[in-house]
Amino acid sequence: MNSLFYLLIEIFILLFILLLGIFYVFSLIAAVYSAPYVGSRKRDIQDMLALAQIRPGMKVLELGSGKGSLCVLSGQKGACALGLEINPVLVVYSKMLSLMHGAGRRARFKWVNFWKFKLPADTEVVYLYLLPEYMSRVWYKLERELKPGTRVISNGFVFKNQKICQKQGNASLYIL
Ligand SMILES: C[S@@+](CC[C@H](N)C(=O)[O-])C[C@H]1O[C@@H](n2cnc3c(N)ncnc32)[C@H](O)[C@@H]1O
Repeated sequence: MNSLFYLLIEIFILLFILLLGIFYVFSLIAAVYSAPYVGSRKRDIQDMLALAQIRPGMKVLELGSGKGSLCVLSGQKGACALGLEINPVLVVYSKMLSLMHGAGRRARFKWVNFWKFKLPADTEVVYLYLLPEYMSRVWYKLERELKPGTRVISNGFVFKNQKICQKQGNASLYIL
């Protein structure tokens, strides 16, 4: 009985170390592609939600959804949210968060590199919080794949040469 207990503890610790290892490896990959994981602060999330003006049924997309809070909160407000995330540990976490908050069908998450993913053309709101050096490339992708009128909300960093339609705290709203 005692040895079974220790075996279970060892398996738990090994799994934990494995998950941590996967998380850090994918954080490095994410940093190379667009940004490592740094979650938006609660206040910034509230500002982004305010700028989004979510209505029931609205199609919301997050590029690099981190631990999924923004998509889950949007789902709770009635939106159909899709988070694209390169780090599988964060995708699993987001899916659990979504289920726990009863937003399972309204906030979905995909393990993908968003650069290689064709964005759904019916998207109405896009959230992002990425490094400044990737912003122009992101804008180019958004313009090519989404329709005019889509609301784009960036936390922290701005799109150079694009007009900010509204600002709230650190979040800026652009209209495609
Ligand atoms: C600065 S964090 C922001 C997380 C979340 N959006 C938030 O505001 O709390 C950037 C996120 O983008 C993810 N990411 C970076 N490059 C990506 C890519 N090419 N495809 C999908 N996710 C990516 C990272 O793993 C990380 O979770």
